Amino acid sequence: GRFPLTRSPRPASDDERAQVLSDLHFGSVFTDHMVHTRWTRGEGWSGHQVMPYGDLALSPAAAVLHYGQEVFEGIKAYRHADGSVWTFRPRYNAARLKVSARRLALPELAEEDVVASLVDLVRADEAWVPSGEGESLYLRPFMFASEAFLGVHAADVVDYYVIASPSGAYFTHGLTPISIWVTQDYHRAGRGGTGFAKTGGNYASSLLPQQEAAAKGCDQVCFLDDVTQTNLEELGGMNVMVVDADGTVRTPRLTGTILEGGTRSAIIRLLTDAGRRVVEETISLDGLVQDIRSGKVTEVFACGTAAVVVPLGRLMGRDFDVAITGSEVTREIHDRLTGIQYGRLEDPYGWMYRL
Ligand code: COI
Repeated sequence: GRFPLTRSPRPASDDERAQVLSDLHFGSVFTDHMVHTRWTRGEGWSGHQVMPYGDLALSPAAAVLHYGQEVFEGIKAYRHADGSVWTFRPRYNAARLKVSARRLALPELAEEDVVASLVDLVRADEAWVPSGEGESLYLRPFMFASEAFLGVHAADVVDYYVIASPSGAYFTHGLTPISIWVTQDYHRAGRGGTGFAKTGGNYASSLLPQQEAAAKGCDQVCFLDDVTQTNLEELGGMNVMVVDADGTVRTPRLTGTILEGGTRSAIIRLLTDAGRRVVEETISLDGLVQDIRSGKVTEVFACGTAAVVVPLGRLMGRDFDVAITGSEVTREIHDRLTGIQYGRLEDPYGWMYRL
């Protein structure tokens, strides 16, 4: 591959790995290897490798620690019933990483290199791809400013890594509906900001409102746009969709402040091809609450790579608290999408990439 492998001198034993794979959560254990390559201004990218997983040595002056110049991706590798291992639309993530990197003044890593970095890592750690229901190997590519310099500038030294984490469900209760707190005090992103980019700062800014949501007894926070403060944007780490009683599915249109989720885009395609009406439009919170109360909206769900597809059962905010009881279409979408990802259904789109 493009990322030559240096094997870990101390890989987990078969027993240790089996132990880990028997009790999976999200994002807390990692495989034996990781990808690394480094960019320097003038030299470009060099030193592509798959190397033993381990702690990084980083200067305390590394720019990322001070100014947050960083971007990342999330993508999964799935084991099919015949034992083969596949990823889902790696080129989509590679393209989005480029878009994010550009906004954060980070260098572009060629799409073929990003795809190769995923493939070469999963090949090295194939035994870590779990095979249980809803399980996968979550791949986390990320790129950050490692230059030791406290001046505020686009770094001249940048590192790219990919780590891999065998994972179970992000929400531990599967398709059990989650509850949402709509924050009216905080916004995730602003016009001209970094909302469309997958950068750590967007998630950092979601943490305090997420704590507020937890304090209200909710699983996730939902953000409104910062200009009118009335329209739905996205949740803390996933997009949101609404199902009308007539079967139409609606999702906030991309305004530059919303992350264009790969799961969001795949669902739009699947639903459209299934003959359903799908609309990307402005969705006001007031309208949504009214529509849930009147029964015009029957389902609301969240979607993302980590979260997959999860129904929302309750929407709360400063002056409203509504229950959402339906999840039929949500389940249908969940089953169709995961059917393709896990190889139970045919993939007419060429979305699955065999390793
Ligand atoms: C994803 O991979 O779905 C993410 O958005 C990252 C994080 C919320 C786990």
